[in-house]
Amino acid sequence: MARAPLTIVCTGTYWRNAWKYEARTYRHFGWDNGTLLANLLAVSAASGLQAKVVLGFVDAEVNRLLDLNTRQEVSLCLVPIGYPSERSLPEPPKQVPALGLKTVPLSQHEVEYPAMLDMHEASSLESAEEVKEWRGEARIVPSSPPIGEQTLLSPAPEEGQPKDTIEQVILRRGSTRTFDRAASVTLAQLSIILDQATRGLPADFLHSSGAQFNDLYLIVHSVQGLKPGAYFFSGERKSLELLKEGEFRSQAHHLGLEQDLPADACVDIFFLADLGRILEMYGNRGYRAVQLEAGVIGGRIYLASHAQHLGVTGLTFFDDDVTDFFSPHAESKSAIFLVAIGKPLKRQPQPG
Ligand SMILES: Cc1cc2nc3c(=O)[nH]c(=O)nc-3n(C[C@H](O)[C@H](O)[C@H](O)COP(=O)(O)O)c2cc1C
Repeated sequence: MARAPLTIVCTGTYWRNAWKYEARTYRHFGWDNGTLLANLLAVSAASGLQAKVVLGFVDAEVNRLLDLNTRQEVSLCLVPIGYPSERSLPEPPKQVPALGLKTVPLSQHEVEYPAMLDMHEASSLESAEEVKEWRGEARIVPSSPPIGEQTLLSPAPEEGQPKDTIEQVILRRGSTRTFDRAASVTLAQLSIILDQATRGLPADFLHSSGAQFNDLYLIVHSVQGLKPGAYFFSGERKSLELLKEGEFRSQAHHLGLEQDLPADACVDIFFLADLGRILEMYGNRGYRAVQLEAGVIGGRIYLASHAQHLGVTGLTFFDDDVTDFFSPHAESKSAIFLVAIGKPLKRQPQPG
């Protein structure tokens, strides 16, 4: 990383989301940062530049370098970009003066949620040794073998793949506010989304290609080529395993916090992770890694959907009910993220 020509440091500001979601906002650090990283990694790849997400760093030192008031804002990850320089490294400066950058206050009054500060503190790394140990050896979380009926992904051949540039797709990107309940998407479209979103993340906490913390579970309402029902996506096998067949629009409505969006979409993708095992292997920092990875996969789902002119939105959910719905397969996993995909409802022209 020391040889990268450029490193971007991403930070998060508690109050940006806490005014609405209170302490639950801690997750949004990973979600928002991940969404941003999905775009950043895609643009880097399109520009032929290497980029890597670094989550193992000494928090206090990076925060000090940026001169952050850590009760309000904290460093979340580092992203070295470009090709390593061959030249010998210059001596690091003896002293780094505080940046002292002024920030515009978000509100006249802010409420502090101590649970979030505690959570961040408990998942901080305190020394270079701790960082080294945390990055450690390859640790893979294997997925269980399939039992139900399987459908292989069937992405379109090269000539049928979306052709827009990443800049065009990012400019088009946004969250759909209303889905057309009568619409459907094809298995080929869904295949492109799942395939593109799960090709692995260049990150210091994922050592082998294909390793992933988040498992994807789907509720399919209206996908041509798939029976309506609940599915588990296997990234290794590139296949969808049918867990239970049926029309689950009303269940999706409930799971997505009683909102219409997940009921009216064509397909809902839930991310679940075995937090117990991940925390055992990666310590508290593992929680940040799970949320960040979810944000990146979610961000890539946005991009792959918009590349195909589909609508998409992230959603909040009832945690335990999501696990119950996908159990017994999802037993012991926690709900991490939810994205709904479909076709946006076109506004009717107003009379007159
Ligand atoms: C993880 C996640 C959860 C979200 N939850 C909801 C939600 O419950 N209801 C909703 O209407 N929008 C939800 N959104 C959409 C956000 O409101 C939207 O992304 C945000 O306003 C930014 O707008 P943009 O995505 O168009 O840039 C969610 C988005 C994400 C990424």
